[in-house]
Amino acid sequence: MKFIKFKNEIEASQYAANEIIDLIKKESKVQLGLATGSTPIKLYEILVKDHNENKTDWSKVETFNLDEYLGLPENHPQTYKVFMDHHLFSKVNINKSNTHFPEQNSINYDELIDSKKGIDLQILGIGTNGHIGFNEPGSELNSLTRVVNLTQETIKVNADKFFNGDTKDVPKQALSMGIKSILKAKKIILLAFGESKQDAIKKLKESIAFDINFPASALALHNDVTIVIDEKAGENIDL
Ligand code: GLP
Repeated sequence: MKFIKFKNEIEASQYAANEIIDLIKKESKVQLGLATGSTPIKLYEILVKDHNENKTDWSKVETFNLDEYLGLPENHPQTYKVFMDHHLFSKVNINKSNTHFPEQNSINYDELIDSKKGIDLQILGIGTNGHIGFNEPGSELNSLTRVVNLTQETIKVNADKFFNGDTKDVPKQALSMGIKSILKAKKIILLAFGESKQDAIKKLKESIAFDINFPASALALHNDVTIVIDEKAGENIDL
């Protein structure tokens, strides 16, 4: 794992955006793995700005989102489909039929990704408890896309960020790509910003093997992972 610390979230997001833009320009077809949450919002903003100013062509890009809540009505503002439409898909020239999310019969999601020759670049965030996607502590290394139960910690964090603090409005389950699904990506960039991610990043830096209680540790087993953080997330860490 390579760690890169930037002065702030904007510079860090610009780095990840450049990686995506370079890939889109270089390859005739690109498969991107995308994340939601507060962390990648700036990244998507930069990608939209780039599309408007430099006409980067998204018509040959296919996307696979990491996860989706279970049990929210289809157009609920907090579904990850609506999130992605709002922040990226409706603002670039991507073909909507090339955007994918895990569905209830999600057993097919990994097969779909494999049939498209896999994910070229996977963007990840990290939960304060070390979850990636919605792979909470206890997720197996060989897990594929499946229904997962969210922990109280994740429900509380997401309630505060996205559901006006009301934990009862946050779904208790989600569909998530598994840890094995994530590790199949050719390249992975994990973004983490702010003080609340300090402990998770410190633990990630110390990870040398998979620890089932800290799912992000699985990234230590992949050969092309870049951890992109801001000064706050990396404050107490020697890189
Ligand atoms: C969420 C998402 C993850 C995300 C993580 C961090 O619940 N399911 O994909 O990376 O938790 O979220 P945030 O970026 O809001 O800190």
